[in-house]
Amino acid sequence: MRHLIDPSDFTREELAALIERAEDIIRRPAFYADACKGKILATLFYEPSTRTRLSFESAMLSLGGSVLGFANADASSATKGESVADTIRMVSCYADICAMRHPKEGAALVASRFSKIPVINAGDGGHQHPTQTLTDLLTIHSVKKRLTGLTFGFCGDLMFGRTVHSLVKALSAYEDNRFIFISPGELKIPAYVREKTGNTAVESENLEEHIGGMDVLYMTRVQRERFFNEEDYVRLKDRYVLDKQKLSRAREDLAVLHPLPRVNEISVEVDADPRALYFEQARYGRYIRMALLMKLLEEAQTKERA
Ligand code: NCD
Repeated sequence: MRHLIDPSDFTREELAALIERAEDIIRRPAFYADACKGKILATLFYEPSTRTRLSFESAMLSLGGSVLGFANADASSATKGESVADTIRMVSCYADICAMRHPKEGAALVASRFSKIPVINAGDGGHQHPTQTLTDLLTIHSVKKRLTGLTFGFCGDLMFGRTVHSLVKALSAYEDNRFIFISPGELKIPAYVREKTGNTAVESENLEEHIGGMDVLYMTRVQRERFFNEEDYVRLKDRYVLDKQKLSRAREDLAVLHPLPRVNEISVEVDADPRALYFEQARYGRYIRMALLMKLLEEAQTKERA
């Protein structure tokens, strides 16, 4: 059974095919209107979400399928002490595919070991978020027409930001990319992610100094829910704020991305700048998830027949 737990679960060829399909879905959505007819997606969200859950649900509905699930751990048997392993055994009886978000690192991987249906990791703690990566890759590809030979700036909470971990992992598999990691000393990129970039990365605390050399700037919020104390969060939360003045030092063709939700780290005055792509990025999330649901369901069906 094929799952998506980590961005490296898919080869470059598979990623290219997913992007191609998403671009085709954008061109002719009606062609895909019944692609998942009769299929059920379960969304198991043990942690808050707006975009990820709604874009998954919208994706399945746009393919003619149905959705069920919960948006809150309190609404599930987790409050009674049920394990993820037992829950997924149940869900396997009621749905054809599932997307799971959980506060614990590795939860989706555990679920995949007990599941009879494809499991998609929709965020596991401060670890990985591979479907946001698919969204990000589609967005970058749509503006840059390639995923190679680019300089990527990542700014903010690089320690707990799972979207950063997954995207860096994916992008470091493409040749000639360079990385500039900008964060406070306390929120540096974890070694296990940084090592993927080999000698193509620099680390800094200064956004202004580096913004002029970037093709893509990926801003992130400080992940309050992963902090041990509020004091540290308050001290670090507004360290980086992208505003018009900082953006004036950037290239004309810079792409500014953000997985959202934004708190303060991008000033609203930036929203009108043509380089601000984060709302467009959120829109792409629906189409790449449509492509993903189709792929995993097609593979599960092929396996069933074999
Ligand atoms: C991100 C997440 O959940 O990790 N949100 C999202 O899925 N787009 C980013 C965040 O919460 O900061």
